[in-house]
Amino acid sequence: MSTEKQFDVVVIGGGPGGYVAAIRAAQLGFKTACIDEWQNAKGGPALGGTCTNVGCIPSKALLQSSEHFEHAGHAFAEHGIDVAGLSLNLGQMLKRKEGVVKANNDGIVYLFKKNKVTFFHGRGTFAGKAEGGFTVNVSGPTTDSISAKNVIIATGSNARELPGAAFDEKVILSNTGALTVDAVPAKLGVIGAGVIGLEMGSVWRRLGAKVTVLEGLPTFLGAVDEQIAKEAHKLFTKQGLDIQLGVKINSVTKGDNNVTVDYADAAGAAKSETFDRLIISIGRVPNTNGLGIETVGVQLDERGFVAVDDECRTNVPGIWAVGDVVRGPMLAHKAEEEGVAVAERIAGQHGHVNFNTIPWVIYTSPEIAWVGKTEQQLKKEGVAYKAGTFPFMANGRARALGDTSGMVKFLADATTDEILGVHIVGPVASELISEAVVAMEFRASSEDIARICHAHPSLSEATKEAALAVDKRSLNF
Ligand code: FAD
Ligand code: NAI
Repeated sequence: MSTEKQFDVVVIGGGPGGYVAAIRAAQLGFKTACIDEWQNAKGGPALGGTCTNVGCIPSKALLQSSEHFEHAGHAFAEHGIDVAGLSLNLGQMLKRKEGVVKANNDGIVYLFKKNKVTFFHGRGTFAGKAEGGFTVNVSGPTTDSISAKNVIIATGSNARELPGAAFDEKVILSNTGALTVDAVPAKLGVIGAGVIGLEMGSVWRRLGAKVTVLEGLPTFLGAVDEQIAKEAHKLFTKQGLDIQLGVKINSVTKGDNNVTVDYADAAGAAKSETFDRLIISIGRVPNTNGLGIETVGVQLDERGFVAVDDECRTNVPGIWAVGDVVRGPMLAHKAEEEGVAVAERIAGQHGHVNFNTIPWVIYTSPEIAWVGKTEQQLKKEGVAYKAGTFPFMANGRARALGDTSGMVKFLADATTDEILGVHIVGPVASELISEAVVAMEFRASSEDIARICHAHPSLSEATKEAALAVDKRSLNF
């Protein structure tokens, strides 16, 4: 094999896990290649994976646009701004979203050039062992064969299908179709009240759809702190999301331009609803299709993820895996942290990912964000804790914004006062949670946050006040 086809590191997949791993490897002086098969509408490359193309970025673009639309329709009037003749130009909204996606795709191409990462557009498949490493074939727009001593698998995940309800992306939609609906459906059904169901359900509700969310579990957002989930459920219901818990889907029948869902409600009563569109968001499955891992002997775990140790090593020395294709939360920032850590480990450094301080955010309105343990987890683990909450209703900046829903909640160790978890439902919780992540990373106590000066008036004062509330000395509530 010619030297230009030999690399130190080859990354398969150009999503947040893969492209960041490739950049970090190149920064560390490795001759690095990244292979990604995603194609844009013109057949060209579209780097950034699920996150950039049909995930984090387009969903947040639509969440922002639909929030503006909703505010213009209702909230502006309270501020004394009358919007006459308000109308929705959905085509422009979708076009803007595509522009935001493209700017991110192009940004990664630029970053690859800047960091001297060689990009191959096509599908990467393990072809076998090569001298001192592995050979990976590339097929698709680019056909090639390359080799490397270290290969990082970062092939991500795909939407899980509900048996008997295959995605056609016109009427039965995965996240991909849910981001491209070309007319606001009068009635939208959503199966799964998880992160995608709530975010995409919110987008289309704000734009005028009547949204029904059908959730299999009897509890709402089971992974979220119970008090926060209860508050969020109340607020979403008030907004008009019809969230039905504890349902059992019996069948999904597709018509020409609608779809009927037959299900049993929580009490076991038979129900039937016909929707114009149906989003199915019941989780995601790791993507190992056509990767040829059997050729090199990489093992999967019992759930179909690439099996890795705590440091993202597969069972085959020299082959690593990061992001959605391995265990752990399916989050872009978790994938990125793993990608960086693996590149550093290949360089003999001590790459580090702290799984206890990975933040979660649900970008609804209000947003939900958390880090660390929930109150129900601490109870289950028998940990003695103190809790403090502060409502945004008592925060001056929230009042000025006209968004006083929700609260900040601190959980701290009863003896040492170390922060064990922080939970927020409220305005820009996605940004506020960073302070808690930093604090927990440095193993701060709630007293530390309570004694730090926070700007006034700011939403972050609610964080300080919740920390004060841990010792029952909140000043403004
Ligand atoms: P991916 O982003 O899935 O990238 C994998 C890439 O590998 C893809 O480009 C794929 O085409 C390519 N590939 C696969 N197999 C091959 C092969 N054999 N050869 C070449 N290329 C291949 N996470 C957040 O943290 N915040 C959010 O707000 C958020 N919002 C989301 C919204 C939606 C609707 C969805 C679906 C997900 C969202 N996520 C969010 C999750 C996030 O998108 C994923 O956790 C993240 O993309 C995982 O990154 P990854 O690099 O592991 O995989
Ligand atoms: P999810 O795991 O968040 O939620 C799936 C929901 O579907 C669960 O509540 C589950 O109980 C329910 N469910 C499963 N099978 C069902 C059935 N047969 N009938 C009814 N309900 C059923 O999965 P989702 O929403 O598909 O998202 C996938 C992942 O993508 C998330 O877990 C998250 O990791 C990532 N994501 C992250 C975002 C963020 O960080 N803001 C946004 C969107 C997705």
